Amino acid sequence: MSKISIATEDRVFVLTGAGISAESGLPTFRASDGLWAGNRIEDVCTPEAWERNPWRVWEFYSARREAGAKAQPNPAHVALAELERRLGERFFLCTQNVDDLHERAGSRRLLHMHGELSKAHCEDNCGRAPVEDRAIYRSLDEVGRCPCGGRLRPHIVFFGEMPLEMDRIQEEIQKATLMVVVGTSGSVYPAANFVHWARLSGARTVYVGPEPPLNAAAFTHVAEGNAGEALPGMFHVEQS
Ligand code: APR
Repeated sequence: MSKISIATEDRVFVLTGAGISAESGLPTFRASDGLWAGNRIEDVCTPEAWERNPWRVWEFYSARREAGAKAQPNPAHVALAELERRLGERFFLCTQNVDDLHERAGSRRLLHMHGELSKAHCEDNCGRAPVEDRAIYRSLDEVGRCPCGGRLRPHIVFFGEMPLEMDRIQEEIQKATLMVVVGTSGSVYPAANFVHWARLSGARTVYVGPEPPLNAAAFTHVAEGNAGEALPGMFHVEQS
């Protein structure tokens, strides 16, 4: 595929999914050997799972913290951080990922719509901000409590809960003239709708990943390939 030109008036919105961290050694969700093959969503990632067995939920996310801490950003994360350095406030990154590999590669203008592994928040949603929490728990007794008395739960958006900062996301999509979506299967909403919202406001839309996502028809270009190989060198940024 030829390079994607970014003109001086363009604004870029990037959406990433688990596929961008695959080359860092973190499993995706829906691959045949992915996270949802070995763990049932209804046991580890729903409000009901938390009610029923909070330890099973913490056990799952503790294991993901452990894997995330060992992983390193790959050339795809680095390429997006570099693009941000060149575009400044004309760049915005929204990730569905809860790992911190984008930050560790240098991204700053980013939002984690499905939460962050490195934080916890009160199970009672008492209004206090999420707290830093990178602990790898070995039992539920080790998990702290909020000053209000509620147990701390992973700062993860469970299935059935509202993704974070949707107003900000919608605002950024509306301003974008180019949307780049990387490594997501297009099976979870509302993220799978972002490409449609971008098309409504006239943006070019590009998908990057080894196979077409479920919503592939909505993209103006689908670049088939691994993100770590495809993203570095993919953009031609026009200088003002
Ligand atoms: N580079 C780019 N994409 C890749 C790579 C790679 N090296 N390897 C795999 N992929 C692609 C796969 O082709 C697949 O389309 O990554 C995608 C991963 O899809 P999913 O496992 O469904 O992950 P994602 O789309 O991020 O899931 C969305 O679902 O379970 C929830 O909250 C969780 O944020 C997650 C959401």
